[in-house]
Amino acid sequence: MEGPRITLVGAGAAAWSLACGLRTAGLPVALWSRRAEAARDLAQRARATAPDGAGELRAVPELGDALAGADVVLLAVSDRAVGEVAARVAAALAGGHRPAVLHTSGYHGVEPLAPARAAGCAVGGLHPLRPLVADVATDWAGGWFAVVGDEAAAARARELADRLGAHVLALAPGERAKHAYHAGAALLSNGAVGLFDAALACLARAGLGRDEARAALADLLAANVEHLRRLPPERALTGPAARGADRVVAGHLEALGDDAEVARLYRAVTEYLLGLARASGRLGEDGAADVRRVLS
Ligand SMILES: NC(=O)c1ccc[n+]([C@@H]2O[C@H](COP(=O)([O-])OP(=O)(O)OC[C@H]3O[C@@H](n4cnc5c(N)ncnc54)[C@H](OP(=O)(O)O)[C@@H]3O)[C@@H](O)[C@H]2O)c1
Repeated sequence: MEGPRITLVGAGAAAWSLACGLRTAGLPVALWSRRAEAARDLAQRARATAPDGAGELRAVPELGDALAGADVVLLAVSDRAVGEVAARVAAALAGGHRPAVLHTSGYHGVEPLAPARAAGCAVGGLHPLRPLVADVATDWAGGWFAVVGDEAAAARARELADRLGAHVLALAPGERAKHAYHAGAALLSNGAVGLFDAALACLARAGLGRDEARAALADLLAANVEHLRRLPPERALTGPAARGADRVVAGHLEALGDDAEVARLYRAVTEYLLGLARASGRLGEDGAADVRRVLS
């Protein structure tokens, strides 16, 4: 299948997940990383996972060679390295060859890509709204990418998302909008992991083994995710905060005993949930005040 030729830069978790996905989508990928052995190793592992008919994936030791013929350069490097790597890419482009240059950062707008823009490339961002972990397969179909950038670069970004079978979120322009988007993504994606860990600590106090507790809590979380697909948060919310059950909240805090960190987290989350229950009209001011007294 014909498609854009991609140069993927980086050899971490995002590069791994995108290399596997783009290859499976039948797109040719040249992979470059500052440590040639890391790119070679990633390409080898990714090739082992892809089905027949997948696109060609080559690790290329020299950046200039990796960029040759590329339609899109995708920078999957650490947020703080995007500017430096964009400058290296701009310097390594041959003659009048000017591919679109995209980064995968959720935090940055196009600003760190200034060196590539100054060299005449269209620039943008293609942020996978997914937690990506090296060597764990990502099913991109039905996923979401946030796209920012110049029209030509954003069109390339949308094309890649489309080839991966994913949806596109078009963000409002500007750094602040991108930062707000990323705050939401981090709060939910990373926050859920933190809450999960804190809940594991609570279940350990109930005498449960870690593996069993993990399985049970993962199922609980998945049930909430299913509700949230169908209902707005104020209707999906269950539990003591939504009911104004002050004695239950007091019992929870007592049971947490000397675990000050989990208790602090519990208080902050319950405070937020009271606001949600109040705003939706499910909880009266008196009920909320009773719970707040227990929290303070
Ligand atoms: N992981 C996720 O869940 C996820 C999800 C969406 C978006 N992203 C975004 O994807 C990007 C990469 O994240 P990641 O999770 O893949 O990080 P990572 O696993 O830490 O990998 C970072 C990569 O950047 C390279 N790098 C760092 N500094 C560099 C420099 N100065 N010059 C050249 N290469 C450099 C590293 O090379 P070395 O190995 O040589 O250090 C490594 O290949 C970030 O912008 C991140 O925000 C990540």
